[in-house]
Amino acid sequence: MIGQDLDKALHLLSDGEVVAIPTETVYGLASNALDPIAVAKIFEAKKRPFFDPLIVHVSDINEAKKWSRAIPEKLLILLQKFSPGPITVLVEKSDTIPDIVTAGLDTVGIRIPNHALTLELLKRLPFPLCAPSANPFGYVSPTTAQHVADQLGDKIPYILDGGDCAVGIESTIVSEKNGQVVVHRLGGLSLEEIEAEVGNVILDVNQHSNPKAPGMLDLHYAPHKPLLVGNIYELYQSTDGKKGLISFSERFDDLNFQVRNVLSEKRDFKEAAASLFSALRQLDKSDIDIILAERFPEEGLGKAINDRLKRASAKR
Ligand code: TXA
Ligand code: MG
Repeated sequence: MIGQDLDKALHLLSDGEVVAIPTETVYGLASNALDPIAVAKIFEAKKRPFFDPLIVHVSDINEAKKWSRAIPEKLLILLQKFSPGPITVLVEKSDTIPDIVTAGLDTVGIRIPNHALTLELLKRLPFPLCAPSANPFGYVSPTTAQHVADQLGDKIPYILDGGDCAVGIESTIVSEKNGQVVVHRLGGLSLEEIEAEVGNVILDVNQHSNPKAPGMLDLHYAPHKPLLVGNIYELYQSTDGKKGLISFSERFDDLNFQVRNVLSEKRDFKEAAASLFSALRQLDKSDIDIILAERFPEEGLGKAINDRLKRASAKR
């Protein structure tokens, strides 16, 4: 059931149930992070492997400090500058965070989501919420309440509707090692924005076979239909069948596409990121055989968009 009833969400979560919640990045599938049984329900609903740790969502930096042993200096600078917002910090976990949340790791991912409804929920609850993206494991992340309902509606009691996600792509995940910031997942906060605050970062986003963080698996965020990424003219020449398009700003009217999804006519990365996952879902549902996606310029959020497209197009 979809609705905007904050009290209902509050009661269900307090009873150890799972509720889908809006954030600025993507919708999350949330439950009480301190209750292992409530946490297990998330894995069950999503068919997520238990070795994949969950992010803990809190309302402010003091709460973030409470669930970690310490927050290293540069991560604290980033939290102060960009929270609430699309950044997750990996820090040493406090003993009160159950092992099921972190898949037995010593570190926990913590973030402060920038969404009024969910911040209100977090302020009113006496516990933090752990939440992965609210999609079946491996599929495209949801950026509307309806996306969640389409796939998990019969598995969870409530979806809190907070409208379309403003950022539309998951948070950027960072840790600190030897005084330097390491980026583990490209996301809604660009590398340029991070480096402006804390200097050069180390990129560690291609651990394809690392079971610690399956969001970095080669194949992830993937539609059911085949997806190819690259130069649209080259892809068009080399493929058969009915085609759907995802492009940055061009319509490619000289080519015969059944469905076109132009993500931002004014070439705004933020606008493009916000509609990427909706476009993938729409094309996945439409009567086409293959999705062709244009490679984005490698700058700003273009990097995160390319990362998602690459993983969504990886060979099964
Ligand atoms: O924007 C977001 O981060 C969204 C919203 C709902 O907050 N959440 C999200 O969660 O994308 P999820 O579970 O779909 O992706 C989290 C990624 C996974 O790849 C997981 O393996 C990794 O973060 N992760 C979580 N905790 C970790 C840890 N302690 N060490 C390494 N990787 C971790
Ligand atoms: Mg996910």
